Formats: sequence, C-alpha cells, structure tokens
Amino acid sequence: MANLLVTGGAGFIGSNFVHHVVAHTDHHVTVLDALTYAGNRASLDGLPDDRVRLIVGNITDAPLVDELFAGADAVIHYAAESHNDNSLHNPRPFLDTNIVGTYTLLEAARRHDTRLHHISTDEVYGDLELDDPERFTEQTPYNPSSPYSSTKAGSDLLVRAWVRSFGVRATISNCSNNYGPYQHIEKFIPRQITNVIRGVRPRLYGAGENVRDWIHADDHSSAVLTILERGEIGETYLIGADGERNNKDVVELILSLMGQPTDAYDHVTDRAGHDLRYAIDSTKLRTELGWLPSYGDFETGLAATIDWYRENEEWWAPAKDATEAFYAAKGQ
Ligand code: NAD
Ligand code: TYD
Repeated sequence: MANLLVTGGAGFIGSNFVHHVVAHTDHHVTVLDALTYAGNRASLDGLPDDRVRLIVGNITDAPLVDELFAGADAVIHYAAESHNDNSLHNPRPFLDTNIVGTYTLLEAARRHDTRLHHISTDEVYGDLELDDPERFTEQTPYNPSSPYSSTKAGSDLLVRAWVRSFGVRATISNCSNNYGPYQHIEKFIPRQITNVIRGVRPRLYGAGENVRDWIHADDHSSAVLTILERGEIGETYLIGADGERNNKDVVELILSLMGQPTDAYDHVTDRAGHDLRYAIDSTKLRTELGWLPSYGDFETGLAATIDWYRENEEWWAPAKDATEAFYAAKGQ
C-alpha cells in the first residue's frame, strides 16, 4: 500500500486513473488539482473518502507542492493545459502549467527523492503522412507542431534533464488520443456526442482525413500503473492500442451508433497547423513490461462512452454553451 499524489486528478485522464487505482489496488490517493475550466470535482464523486482526498491548488505553488511531496511515495503527473485549439488562441497558460508547473514538481522530486511518473503525449513527435508505414517509437525525434505539443515536449525534456543531472527517479510515458467517460466536451469525441444529444450536427475540421490512434482512458491507466510498478528509471514508454481511425470515420460511427444518418454532419474551418496523423508503436511497453490493452474493440468502447454522456448530462451540460460559443467565434 502506498500514498500516491496525482496531479490533475480531477481532469479527464487523471480522474479515470484515480478510479482505476481505487478499483485495482489498495493505494491511497491525494489529488492536487487547480480545478481550472477543465477540472471537475464531480469526476471524483463516488470514491471512498478514506482512500481519496482532493487538494485544490496549483502545481506552480512550490510551498504547497513541497508539503504534498513530503507525504507521497510516488507522484503521477497528469496536470496540464491539454487542448490544442485553446493553445492556438492563448498559449500563455500552457507555458505556465506545462513548463513551469513540471519544473516545480521536478524540483520537489529532487529535494524529497520522490519517484515521479510524467504523463505526456505522442504529439511531441509531430505528425506522420497518411501512407507512412512507420509509427512513432521511443526513438522518433521530437518535432512538435502546436503551442500545446511544444510545451509538452519541453516538459518531457525537463524530466530527462532532471534524471540525468540530478538523479531524479522519473519515468515518462507518451500516449495516443484517449476516449472514455469524464472527457471535457471541448474535445472531438465528446463534442460530437453531446452535439447529437442536443440535436446539433457534428463538426468536422476540414476534410476529416486526419488520423488519430484511439485508446480507452482505462487502458491508459493500466499502462501507467504497470510503468509505475515495473518501469525502469529514466526510461520513456509509448502507450497505444493500435486504434488508428480517421476523423470522418469516427463522426460517421458516432452518428450510426446514435441512430442518425451517417452524413448528418458539417465540415467546418480547419485547425491551423492541424497534425495529419498520429500512430503509436507500443512494442517496448508490451514486450519489456508485459502490458496489454483490454478494450480491443473501439466500437464497443465508443458505444459505452455514448451511453455515459447520455446518462450524465448534469456533468457536461453546464460547460456546453460556453464551449460552443468559443468554437462559433472561430467558425468551428
Ligand atoms: P484535462 O484538460 O482533462 O485535465 C487537466 C487537469 O489538470 C484538470 O483537472 C485541470 O484542472 C488540471 N490543471 C490544469 N492546470 C493546473 C495547474 N496549474 N495546477 C493544478 N492542476 C491543473 O486533460 P487530460 O486530457 O486529462 O490530459 C491529462 C494529461 O494527459 C495531460 O498531461 C495531457 O498532456 C496528457 N495526454 C492527454 C491525452 C488525451 O487524449 N487527452 C493523450 C495523451 C496524453
Ligand atoms: P482533439 O480531441 O482536439 O485532440 P487532438 O488535437 O489532441 O488530436 O481532436 C481530435 C481530432 O479531431 C483532431 O484531428 C481535430 C479534430 N476535431 C474535429 O474535426 N472537430 C472538432 O470539433 C474537434 C474539437 C476536433
């Protein structure tokens, strides 16, 4: 049994991780989360008070971070500004949280000699051509495209430097696009599901040929626990579940699962600098640490996710109007 500190644990993937830890281990969890627009206390509802506590605070607050590291056996760092479209609109919070926030945690890890796992994204590698037979591996050079992915790349490089220069006991994982419950409705899949629930046509950027490599958030969680338990200090592990699909296919699948005509969507203004394709080769994680995803079938996981948004309208409805107003102002 250990005390885990989970930054960003009231966000999408972090809250899925906390639910996973409570269900599959006997660890105690302290969540450190600033409850930005993307954080939601309700994502931790139903978890036992004697296993999980939420501290509302900022990862750039060094004294608070120091105090929390003192009581932690390991830290799993999810907190970030995470949305590409927001980063194109206002990059500054991405620098503050993703770069300065990660720096603040690394300094605390160094002082307390705390085991740290840093959560990152495959977007640090840039994008692939549609017909490229290669996928991203741990050896792919960094080539980020957006303010979001460049600040995540910067945070990864800080972690590597603190491992090498100061002996911080850290690992890094870079995961592909997640889907599942508790995802903010600014993101692609929940935006379209909640549009359909509201009787609004889904919005596809450009032609919709862009490919994302989808993984269920619960599979991401099991991979992170595996790395925490058996990963080698200083190593990077790519996490993916062989889930490549283009955006057009995903929108059509959502429409068909929700009983709508599959052409009932609109093409809207493309994202500036829109990455074409992400694809993960997770051989290292599978062969060296023996991890395997459980959600083999994207369609089944997507149907369950649609059910979750149908059944939890009170979780997402308060954010819907402001989210859509942000997109409408950009013609999206
Ligand atoms: P999210 O935006 O849903 O959640 C981020 C959480 O961090 C929120 O609860 C927010 O309140 C909190 N937070 C933001 N700034 C903070 C600060 N300064 N101090 C404390 N808390 C703060 O993001 P997500 O989609 O759950 O992503 C979590 C992590 O996973 C991120 O590091 C992201 O880069 C990475 N990741 C995401 C995906 C994806 O598909 N969403 C894929 C791979 C990696
Ligand atoms: P998103 O969920 O923002 O994740 P990321 O930018 O990290 O990949 O977007 C996923 C894909 O969906 C991306 O190619 C952009 C596209 N997209 C749309 O076509 N329509 C939308 O309304 C949104 C939000 C995204």
